[in-house]
Amino acid sequence: MDRVAVVTGASAGIGRAVARALAGLGARVVVNARREGPLGELAREIGPGRVAAVAGDASDPAVIARMLDEARARFGAEADLVVVNAGRGLNGSVLTSDTGQWEEMVRTNLLGAAHLIRHAAARMTSMVPVNQTHQRGAWLNRSRDIVVIGSVVGRNVSPFSSMYGSTKFAVHGLVEGARRELSPRGVRVTLIEPGFVVSEFQRVAGYDAAWFEGVLEKIGPALTPEDVARAVAFVAQQPAHVHVADVLIRPTRQDYP
Ligand SMILES: NC(=O)c1ccc[n+]([C@@H]2O[C@H](COP(=O)([O-])OP(=O)(O)OC[C@H]3O[C@@H](n4cnc5c(N)ncnc54)[C@H](OP(=O)(O)O)[C@@H]3O)[C@@H](O)[C@H]2O)c1
Repeated sequence: MDRVAVVTGASAGIGRAVARALAGLGARVVVNARREGPLGELAREIGPGRVAAVAGDASDPAVIARMLDEARARFGAEADLVVVNAGRGLNGSVLTSDTGQWEEMVRTNLLGAAHLIRHAAARMTSMVPVNQTHQRGAWLNRSRDIVVIGSVVGRNVSPFSSMYGSTKFAVHGLVEGARRELSPRGVRVTLIEPGFVVSEFQRVAGYDAAWFEGVLEKIGPALTPEDVARAVAFVAQQPAHVHVADVLIRPTRQDYP
């Protein structure tokens, strides 16, 4: 895969698995997260020349600009595959969740995704002038993808984390709006909607461990980050004229959400 990718939230879980999968397919990858330690470990694992790490808050436009600049500086081309993954959960509803975590969650999940989509779109649309997008060769030779990790709780109201789910409902709207705006210019904007994935997500969201064990008992085995990464890789490997726009992926035994 001759792609230059950016993956946010790559120090753990889905983002790390996506970065590994894309690098395994031959992509050169800029990885981002706030924690430098695990990001450095991932970079060492992928190996020199194929990866660059940009530590920082993925909702900060200055950090976003650095990620995209790094792709161009290190790999000689603008990123053509941007995976908008950084995010966090939060246990509880609008009535019961910790209000002290609302702002960080909305900033990371929604505003961060919006800033990254905007920056990535500006660069991807400038790669191929709009008046050439209908010509074969001008865009069909180079796929451009913005892949956003939404959630099944951005489609179905979550019975146990509806405050978090509301950020994903907003993200889904953002993605469909961007898809309509960018698809005529040859840029694919894709929504991935995972169900339960076992990762650091549950701890960060503040799920009760015994409760989550019960969930796994009922619906397990849950998805692994690698299961989601395969879906991202599948989307990115389609020919430029094919857009798999929306992938909902659940553990087989998960009935709802
Ligand atoms: N796990 C699930 O069941 C599930 C289901 C559906 C959708 N999702 C979505 O999938 C995405 C990844 O979740 P996950 O399950 O992989 O969770 P995870 O294991 O907790 O990983 C989250 C990643 O995001 C990073 N991150 C968080 N806030 C950040 C910020 N402000 N700036 C940069 N990086 C940030 C974390 O790294 P640092 O802490 O080092 O910054 C970490 O690398 C999220 O958008 C989540 O909403 C998860």
